[in-house]
Amino acid sequence: MARRSATDTHRLRVILFEVPRGRIRQSTAANSYSPFWRRNGFRPPDGIEWSTANRSALSGLLDKNSEPILGQGPAEISVGAITEQTIMVKIRSLTQQDLPAADRIFRLAFATFLGVPEPEQFWADLAYARTRWPADPTAAFGAELNGELVGSNFATRWGSVGFFGPLTVRPDLWDRKIAQRLMDPIMERFDSWGVIHAGLFTFAQSPKHLGLYYKYGFRPRFLTAIMSKAVEPKRGTSGWTMYSQISESERKGCLEACRQVTESIYPGLDVEREIRATHTQGLGETLLINEGADVVGFAVCHCGPGTEAGNQKCYVKFGAVQPGSTAGARFDHLLDACEELAAARSLARLEAARVWPGTRRMPQCSNVASGRTFRA
Ligand SMILES: CC(C)(COP(=O)(O)OP(=O)(O)OC[C@H]1O[C@@H](n2cnc3c(N)ncnc32)[C@H](O)[C@@H]1OP(=O)(O)O)[C@@H](O)C(=O)NCCC(=O)NCCS
Repeated sequence: MARRSATDTHRLRVILFEVPRGRIRQSTAANSYSPFWRRNGFRPPDGIEWSTANRSALSGLLDKNSEPILGQGPAEISVGAITEQTIMVKIRSLTQQDLPAADRIFRLAFATFLGVPEPEQFWADLAYARTRWPADPTAAFGAELNGELVGSNFATRWGSVGFFGPLTVRPDLWDRKIAQRLMDPIMERFDSWGVIHAGLFTFAQSPKHLGLYYKYGFRPRFLTAIMSKAVEPKRGTSGWTMYSQISESERKGCLEACRQVTESIYPGLDVEREIRATHTQGLGETLLINEGADVVGFAVCHCGPGTEAGNQKCYVKFGAVQPGSTAGARFDHLLDACEELAAARSLARLEAARVWPGTRRMPQCSNVASGRTFRA
């Protein structure tokens, strides 16, 4: 049996927090992973039972105005009193020069939280600050103390949907409200973008994380397992094209077709920015599946080190297919395409999670944005 890494263990324990902003959509989607993922050859990390992966530890939270139903969590959330614990940091835009420091703090912060022995080496193959900053430098923020960067946070806009992370603070300065200072510009950004649904991924088992995000109106939704499978050698392709291989003149139409797929799932959802960032930064590939002339599904995949995937991995950061009676088959097709991409790039594992906020029409959308904060 393969050894379980701290990374695997903690990647399972993430939940999506959401705050619908304006439009409220209720979700009744069952949080059941087994049949779908089993059929596609995925499995929970070693040592984790399907029953555990299926269990929604925190559920039933539908919208910002309803009372949360939490089995456990912060008993009381006080709102932002300044105490002697508070440190006066300066919050400013993150610059390109800040990225090495942001990256170092990212590793140190997560390694400290997860109790990893060699923090400097932790997640050395992953890149978040270096990939999210160029995607939108106006939405990346840093906390500075005495001229030194001590924390950062990143907002991402997917049309009407916004999410943020990774949010990290240098461990010796935890519990001084620096994270809260770094949340303020993110929430302002969501307001100025006019997003109608905002979310993040975090650690389901951490009262600190729950308490922190509660303050900003976020409520837990689904326990989301990040699943992975060994990539099997494939014969040929099951029929897909790559965004990188279509001509420049066709790209505009392609992005519009992808937008129509996401629009059919959630009003205003648009991941053009993600597709462009993956292409221009060379982070991986966007796969497109067609029926006739129509794009009916696509997946934005990160591949290998220096991306959100890491060594030997293909990570499906976002995947969606058009809803309808054949959505399940389309999604299978999409996952096959992702595995074929991984095989073509000699990557050993395929990683993905299935979750989508506020829609009954599963399974047509997969998204692991935290990501990897979560995925973290
Ligand atoms: C999570 C992290 C960003 C928080 O940074 P921080 O600067 O220590 O956070 P702050 O001091 O601004 O806020 C902490 C808040 O957590 C909440 N909190 C802490 N302990 C809590 C507990 N036991 N129960 C409930 N709420 C708790 C409180 O709301 C507290 O704020 P308050 O003291 O003003 O009430 C930091 O610990 C970190 O970098 N962790 C590792 C990386 C990580 O997990 N990032 C987030 C991924 S989603």
